[in-house]
Amino acid sequence: MRRPIVIGNWKMNGDSVSIRDLLGGLTSQWSGVHQAEVAVCAPYPYLGLCADQLENTNIGLGAQDLSVQSSGAYTGEVAGQMLTDVGCGYVLVGHSERREYHAESSELVANKFQAALDAGLIPVLCVGETLEEREAEKTYDVVGKQLLAVVEHCGLAGVAKGIVAYEPVWAIGTGKTATPEMAQDVHSYIREVLGPEGDQVRILYGGSVKPETAEGLFSQKDIDGALVGGASLQAGDFVAICRAAE
Ligand code: 13P
Repeated sequence: MRRPIVIGNWKMNGDSVSIRDLLGGLTSQWSGVHQAEVAVCAPYPYLGLCADQLENTNIGLGAQDLSVQSSGAYTGEVAGQMLTDVGCGYVLVGHSERREYHAESSELVANKFQAALDAGLIPVLCVGETLEEREAEKTYDVVGKQLLAVVEHCGLAGVAKGIVAYEPVWAIGTGKTATPEMAQDVHSYIREVLGPEGDQVRILYGGSVKPETAEGLFSQKDIDGALVGGASLQAGDFVAICRAAE
């Protein structure tokens, strides 16, 4: 049995006032979520604030990126151990926005995945194709290569210690969600690529997930939860998505 999990990715949004409000909203509306594991990935400067406010709740904390280095003269970088130290349990790696805007290669992403494991964090590996790649029928090829880069570096057993999030780039922030069947097809392919470890790895769907679309996605056999962007900034919507994962 894979425990369902919903993770909010706040991206570069919020300030100390709005984040306190959002967390207050989440904790006050928190009911009906017993089974699902839940976490929010906040911007670096607010991790401490979130850790304090989430203490004694069932909501975990994550970051959106980490360095491949563990310490030293790397100005502007943040090490996995620092994230663990301030209360993070999770970290996103290889989000498409980092692959695209920060030219992160699959090799770098694989190194980040290992750095997260070494720091005792649960890495959430994001994979997904662009619209152009989908239209050229390259979805499996692209997703397969992104995954295999991490498998080659960390081994199947290493990948199995993390979580995979399938986020088709064309569905991110566009309001276009993959249909449950489209997502299921790719999730089942990811499980196949992960071979003997595939059955135990949780695979999340991400891309314009809303309370209205969550139930249909979660009813698919290989979809174990969601990585939620925009809707995770609204307490009511995020809690509704978490409830749908029960
Ligand atoms: P949206 O839910 O806003 O489409 O973002 C998805 C995402 O990128 C989560 O990591």
